[in-house]
Amino acid sequence: MADPSQASFWAQANALLRKNLTYQRKHIWTNVRLVLVPLFLCLLLLAIQLLVDAMMKQVSDKSDCGSKDVMPGGDCPIPNPPLLPPMLQIPESESRAVKAGFFSYRDFPDKSCRRTGTCPVTILVTGNNHSLGKALSGNMFGGSFAVNTSDFLTSLANNVLGSTLEADQNNYKDPGINSEIPIYNIQSQCSPNSTWPFSFGNIHTEVKCVQGLCLWRNSSAEVNDELFRGNWRANPERMTNEIAAAYDLLSTDNNNLDATIWYNSTYNDDSPSKVLVRVPRLINLVSNAYLKFLKGPGTRIVFEFVKEVPKQQTKKNLDIASMLGPLFFTWVVLLLFPVILTSLVYEKQERLRIIMKMHGLGDGPYWMISYAYFLALSMFYVTSLVIFGSAIGLHYFRLNDYSIQFVFYFIFINLQISLAFLASSIFSKVKTATVIAYIFVFGTGLLGSFLFERLVETPSFPEKGILALELYPGFSLYRGLYEFAQSASSVNGMKWEDLSDSGMYKLFCIMSVEWFVILIVVYYIDRVSSSGKSPLFFFKNPFKKSSSLPSPPSVQRQNSDNVLIDMEKTDVTQEREKVEQLKHEGRSTGHAIVCDNLKKVYPGRDGNPAKLAVKGLYLDVPSGECFGMLGPNGAGKTSFIHMMTGLLKPTSGTALVQGLDICKDMNKVYTSMGVCPQHDLLWETLTGREHLLFYGRLKNIKGSALTQAVEESLKSVSLFDGGVADKPAGKYSGGMKRRLSVAISLIGNPKVVYMDEPSTGLDPASRKNLWTVIQRAKQNTAIILTTHSMEEAEFLCDRLGIFVDGGLQCIGNPKELKGRYGGSYVFTMTTSIEYEEKVERMLQRISPNAKKVYHLAGTQKFEIPKEEVMISDVFLMVEKAKTKFTVFAWGLADTTLEDVFFKVATTAQVFNSLS
Ligand SMILES: *[C@@H]1O[C@H](CO)[C@@H](O)[C@H](O)[C@H]1NC(C)=O
Ligand SMILES: *[C@@H]1O[C@H](CO)[C@@H](O)[C@H](O)[C@H]1NC(C)=O
Ligand SMILES: *[C@@H]1O[C@H](CO)[C@@H](O)[C@H](O)[C@H]1NC(C)=O
Ligand SMILES: *[C@@H]1O[C@H](CO)[C@@H](O)[C@H](O)[C@H]1NC(C)=O
Repeated sequence: MADPSQASFWAQANALLRKNLTYQRKHIWTNVRLVLVPLFLCLLLLAIQLLVDAMMKQVSDKSDCGSKDVMPGGDCPIPNPPLLPPMLQIPESESRAVKAGFFSYRDFPDKSCRRTGTCPVTILVTGNNHSLGKALSGNMFGGSFAVNTSDFLTSLANNVLGSTLEADQNNYKDPGINSEIPIYNIQSQCSPNSTWPFSFGNIHTEVKCVQGLCLWRNSSAEVNDELFRGNWRANPERMTNEIAAAYDLLSTDNNNLDATIWYNSTYNDDSPSKVLVRVPRLINLVSNAYLKFLKGPGTRIVFEFVKEVPKQQTKKNLDIASMLGPLFFTWVVLLLFPVILTSLVYEKQERLRIIMKMHGLGDGPYWMISYAYFLALSMFYVTSLVIFGSAIGLHYFRLNDYSIQFVFYFIFINLQISLAFLASSIFSKVKTATVIAYIFVFGTGLLGSFLFERLVETPSFPEKGILALELYPGFSLYRGLYEFAQSASSVNGMKWEDLSDSGMYKLFCIMSVEWFVILIVVYYIDRVSSSGKSPLFFFKNPFKKSSSLPSPPSVQRQNSDNVLIDMEKTDVTQEREKVEQLKHEGRSTGHAIVCDNLKKVYPGRDGNPAKLAVKGLYLDVPSGECFGMLGPNGAGKTSFIHMMTGLLKPTSGTALVQGLDICKDMNKVYTSMGVCPQHDLLWETLTGREHLLFYGRLKNIKGSALTQAVEESLKSVSLFDGGVADKPAGKYSGGMKRRLSVAISLIGNPKVVYMDEPSTGLDPASRKNLWTVIQRAKQNTAIILTTHSMEEAEFLCDRLGIFVDGGLQCIGNPKELKGRYGGSYVFTMTTSIEYEEKVERMLQRISPNAKKVYHLAGTQKFEIPKEEVMISDVFLMVEKAKTKFTVFAWGLADTTLEDVFFKVATTAQVFNSLS
């Protein structure tokens, strides 16, 4: 941090933040659209709700509340609820208790009663006084069914009526009394086929006799035991054995009635909405029996009827948001996921992140600003969802405590962002990422509502299973929204006090833990992949033969190369000696770039041998020098540049940049480095000026110095005039983009600049322009430049290296190279075909070693060794020739760099393929 040229964490963060803000401002409509999505969806919900309300109103207007037969569950007013006879809950005939092996008492009826449908309803009785119990049992049920039509309800109460149907949620109308099924009259004895017609209001059915059987047990423990064994859940594979109820009379005597009642409320649990239990008649049965025991059969306590409280007309309310809520809002909230993911993958795909990194943007500021940006966007999005939803009056948002909603959404969007970060490390193409992300969004919603919700609503599904499913973030979101919907459809909404009931606490814990775990994993993956390894490197098969080392034969070949062509490559050897000397004297820190035996081997794949891309490169480039790297395609130039810019790790050897090791201190190296990549990596919507401002800030230039530097930079690449600087880079021509890339690589006076074919695709004028820029910049910078243009190399470079098959074949300044490898003139002459031989003979006379390299239709090209001829001899010869025959054209040229390149490259390749 002491280095003033190195931007601090906050300076980098600031630079990125400003760039992102500018970028977002350009994309303001995308953002506005994104935030408007919740509004649009809420309005859609509102519209559906209004439509449904209108239809409901129509329905309730149509339903005639005046009619007699009012639906009890409906919304009509019931100012005067009907009187109803109280009933007993009795088991179905085929599941009433019969003699079975698991009962120790043998006094149950025989199984055969099930066939005839005459099984009695069993009630167990116990207590401290057997004779008293017997007496009460005898008093419980009466004789045959009898009603006095003129005093209907009272006389009905003298009979013990029972129903096998479960009760309703209220008592406006007992489901047990309807025209479809018979009502049971429980009597102490039934004569065969005894049924009686029954009319109650407009219900006409029949009453059927069923025997009530009271069985004495010695203790309450025995009663309990039999109830337990008889329970259908305890014996799922046997026929159920149900006992209707049981009494423990305890210490009841002539002065006190004291009883415990066992009754079955299981049906209550099983139905989705709570229903009433039929206990009142059970209480009345025992007190009535007791009174009869005390006062004789003439006295009785009549339980005449039950009557529900009257009710007002209720408005039918179908809260669409709460009904559709979980699915709908899952989609709405998850929609951010593709947005975040594609934006991250875009920066990766377009390699914008790596180019920012190369210009000194550290990982810390990058992740911090990206995270903060997505968090802000998500917060804004979700907040607008809640605000719009509340504004249009959805219960879903209004009823639940806002602080709970805040905490829930806050945790979830953090989880979602870290998940997107994690996913972004898997994808490298925006298209794939988008498709997969949308499948995730819609798939999660659908699975949530068709699978997960069902499971949550199944009481028998284990809690642990639900928790396990909630580990999947999509389902935890779904669960949370589901709970909001549940609470909103009840009256109160969700409050902090009742949070633990709804499983919301667990959800918060799961999501928070996942958030942190995923962040750590993301950090780890980023670390590992930025160090060049595959994130799954520890999964590598340890038994697989490691192919990362060069195979021995290729090493040998390389050595023999050295021995054989050392003579020719003295310049390369000299460079190596220079580097070794620098290293030895410890002066390598003073030089801009020192490569020390840099090697790169690509491991063999699918049976192909390992490829040596760069074989032991030694190079020393001092500040102020422009080093040109020439070489055919595939020679290893790009691998070399990638190693120097940190995209690839060297297999062995290293390089020092300003004394910093690229294997260890790459992040520091970045701060003094500029890169102009082969393909322009620019943000389409940012202007040239904004690009330079961003990269300038990354290089720690501030305030007026920044404005000045940017302006100078723009001027130097002639992007300043005519408002070009303020046009978005997407509208630039190829040449302008190229010039901007060069300006970016040079801003902030980096100590080391790598340019990968900077002038490709430029017209001659722009190219000249660019060259002057580069030439001016090289004064206190070391530049390494790769190019295919010999003209460019000759113009810009102080030294050149020709790179073939992973190694430097020669090194030196352009003149030297031409002298060394050229050494000849090229002589061309065009005559008619018949004089070809004559020309050749004449030339051989002045230069016996002249070599014909080309001839076609009278045009011939010769190479003449320089030491053999004087140029004046050649002129004399041409003059002489002109007197003898017609010479259409002729020419004499020195060798060009191109010739040198061609020669070096082909001889090296021929040599390598021979050895
Ligand atoms: C049991 O009850 C009967 C009838 O009330 C009474 O006569 C008898 O004394 C009681 N027996 C005991 C042991 O309390
Ligand atoms: C029926 O009830 C009415 C009124 O309480 C009573 O006068 C009449 O005697 C009863 N009839 C029978 C058969 O009990
Ligand atoms: C219940 O008690 C009676 C009388 O004390 C006895 O005869 C009978 O065996 C007992 N029944 C059981 C199952 O213990
Ligand atoms: C309780 O009632 C339910 C529902 O009617 C029934 O399925 C179950 O068998 C009953 N349990 C017992 C122990 O009687």
